[in-house]
Amino acid sequence: MCGIVGCVGEKQARNYLISGLHRLEYRGYDSAGIVTIGTDNKATLLRAKGKVSKLEELVSSIRRTAKPSTDKIGIGHTRWATHGEPSEKNAHPHKAGDIYLVHNGIIENYKELKAEIKNHKFITDTDTEVLAALIDSLYDQNTTLADAVNQALKLVAGTYGIAVISVRNPDEIVVARSGSPLIIGVGDNETYIASDASALIGFTDKAIYLNDGEMAICRGDSVELRDLSAQPISAKVETIEIDMQAIQKQGYEHFLLKEICEQPSTLRSTLSGRINVKDKVANLGGLNLTPAELRKIEHVVIVGCGTAYYAGLLGMYYLEQLVDDLTIDVVAASELRYRSFHLPKDTVALVISQSGETADTLACLREIKRRGIKTLGVVNVVGSTIAREVDGGVYVHAGPEISVASTKAFTSQVAALTIFGIQLAQAKGADLQSVSKYIEELAKLPDEIDKIVSKDKEKIAKIAKRYAKYEHALYFGRDTLYPVAMEGALKLKEISYIQAEGYAAGELKHGPIALIDDSFFEVALLIDNWLFDKSLSTLEEVNARGGHIFVITNSKKAIKAEEIIRINTKLDILAPVLINVVQQLFAYYVAVARGNDVDQPRNLAKSVTVE
Ligand code: AGP
Ligand code: GLU
Repeated sequence: MCGIVGCVGEKQARNYLISGLHRLEYRGYDSAGIVTIGTDNKATLLRAKGKVSKLEELVSSIRRTAKPSTDKIGIGHTRWATHGEPSEKNAHPHKAGDIYLVHNGIIENYKELKAEIKNHKFITDTDTEVLAALIDSLYDQNTTLADAVNQALKLVAGTYGIAVISVRNPDEIVVARSGSPLIIGVGDNETYIASDASALIGFTDKAIYLNDGEMAICRGDSVELRDLSAQPISAKVETIEIDMQAIQKQGYEHFLLKEICEQPSTLRSTLSGRINVKDKVANLGGLNLTPAELRKIEHVVIVGCGTAYYAGLLGMYYLEQLVDDLTIDVVAASELRYRSFHLPKDTVALVISQSGETADTLACLREIKRRGIKTLGVVNVVGSTIAREVDGGVYVHAGPEISVASTKAFTSQVAALTIFGIQLAQAKGADLQSVSKYIEELAKLPDEIDKIVSKDKEKIAKIAKRYAKYEHALYFGRDTLYPVAMEGALKLKEISYIQAEGYAAGELKHGPIALIDDSFFEVALLIDNWLFDKSLSTLEEVNARGGHIFVITNSKKAIKAEEIIRINTKLDILAPVLINVVQQLFAYYVAVARGNDVDQPRNLAKSVTVE
C-alpha cells in the first residue's frame, strides 16, 4: 500500500531513492518524500504532495541551488494515505527529534500511544508520526537506534514495514516488518531497502526477504538480522529473478496495455511444463501434496480479493466440472477472515494473490492455517509473504504486473486453477478423456488470446469511445460468465470511474432491470453453448426496455445489440477467458477516452497491504 526505499553505503543516496520510488509508485502515489543525511550529519528532508515526479522536481530545484550533496544514506516513501489526507505535511518521512521514519501499514493503537508521548509537538494527522515520536522518546544517550526501535515496536499494535535513520548515527538504517513487506538489497559496499524487488533491479540482484517479527540493522557493508527479542537471525540471501525489461513499458503507452497484450507469452510461462496435450496430463509442481493426499480432498475453499477473488470464482466452475464429489466455497478474503467459519478437516484452501502481500488475504491465510487446514498459494510475485507462508502452491510466472488494474494475473490464475482441477480429477481417478478437452483448450488459449490482442484492438477502441460518455454500466453473464461479468465491471470502474456492476444474467429480472434507462449501457456476455438461448432471453428483456447493449460473444448467431464483438474461436470451455480479454481492452480504451491515469487510477494502489 505504499513504497519504501532506503540506501546506505558509498554512493550518493538520492539516485537510488528517486529511482526506487518511481519503480514503487504503483504501490501508492498520493505524496512522496525522501530524507538524506550528508557527511556533515545534516539531514535534508524533501516532501511533495502528488506523484514522485513532483518530488523529483523539488530535488532537482534543490540540487541547482545547494552545494553538491554528500549524502551517503537516505530513506524515501511514496504514500497511499490511511490516516491524514494526502498533503506535504502528512507525507513521509516523518521527523521526531534526531530520527526520520517511513512506514507502510497502520498503527492501530496510535491514539493511545500519542496520549502517552509528552515530549513531541505533533504536526501531522498521521498514525506514523506517533511511531516516530515513540521511537524518539526511547532513543536516549544510552540506547542504540535499533534498541529504541525494538522497544517501540513492542508497544505497537497494527501493521508496519518501517525504515528509520538518525543524524546521531548516520551509518545505519534500522528496518523492521510486521504485516507489510520489506526487502534488503545486498550490494557492493551498498545496502538497499525496498518494499518489493522491482526497486532493486539495476542496483543488485541479491536480496534478503524480511519476515514478520524481524528487524535488521543495515550498514553499507553489513546486514545484521534479529528478532524483536534482539536474538540474532541468520540472513538468507536470495537471487532476484526479474529483468529490467519486465518493468518497463517496452513501447506501449501504458503498462496496462502492455500487460493485456503480453498475455499470450505470460500465459505460456504459466502453462510451461505443467500441461502435456499428447499424454493428456496436467501437473502443478510445488503443491507438496502426495497423490494420496490429493485423493482425500473433499472440500476446497478459495480465497482472494478483487480480481483474484473473481479468478477464484471462475476457477470454481472449472473445478466443479472436472472433479466429482468436491464441494467448493469461494469467499472474499476480507470477509472470510472475520467470519466464524467452519471447514471440514479434509479441506484444502487455495489462496490467490497477484502481489502476495494483500493484507486481507494474508490475514485470511493465517486464520485458515491456525485451524490446521492445508493452504496452497496461487501467487505471482516470487518471494512474497503469502508465497512464503502457504504450505505449498504455485507461482503463476506472469512477470511483474505494474498497472494497478490486474489483467494478466487473472488469466494466469484461472489457468493455474484449471490445471489444479485437472490434477485433482486425475488423482481421484478421472479418465484421460474426461480431462483432455480442458488440457487441449489450455494449450490453445495463448494463441487464441493473441488473435484478440493483435487484431481486435481498433474495433474495441471504437466501441469504447461510444460508451465512454456514460456514467453507469451493467455487466451480465450466466454460469462461467457471471464471475467474468463481475471482473469486467471491476476493470471498468477502477480505471474509468464509471459506476459499473457485474450481475448474474438470470438475476436481472429480480430487481436490477429497474435500473435500465438511457443513463446506462449494458455489457452482455454470451457463449454459444447450452445456455445461449437463455442468455438471449435476458438480452431481449433488456432490449425491450431500451437498453444500450454491447455484446461480447463467440457466437456467429444473430444477436440484437447496439455493438457486438464476435470472437472467432473454437474454444468453448475457456471462451470466458477470451471474453475477459476483450473486457480488459474495452475498459482500457474507455479510460483512455476519458483521459484518466490508466496505470495509477485515483484512490487506488497496486498492493493493498493495509486493511
Ligand atoms: C484488481 O484490478 C485490483 N487492482 C484489485 O482488486 C486487486 O485484484 C486486489 O487488490 C487483490 O490484489 P492481489 O491479487 O495482489 O492480492
Ligand atoms: N498509515 C500511514 C499513513 O497514512 C502509512 C500509509 C501507507 O502505507 O502508505 O501515512
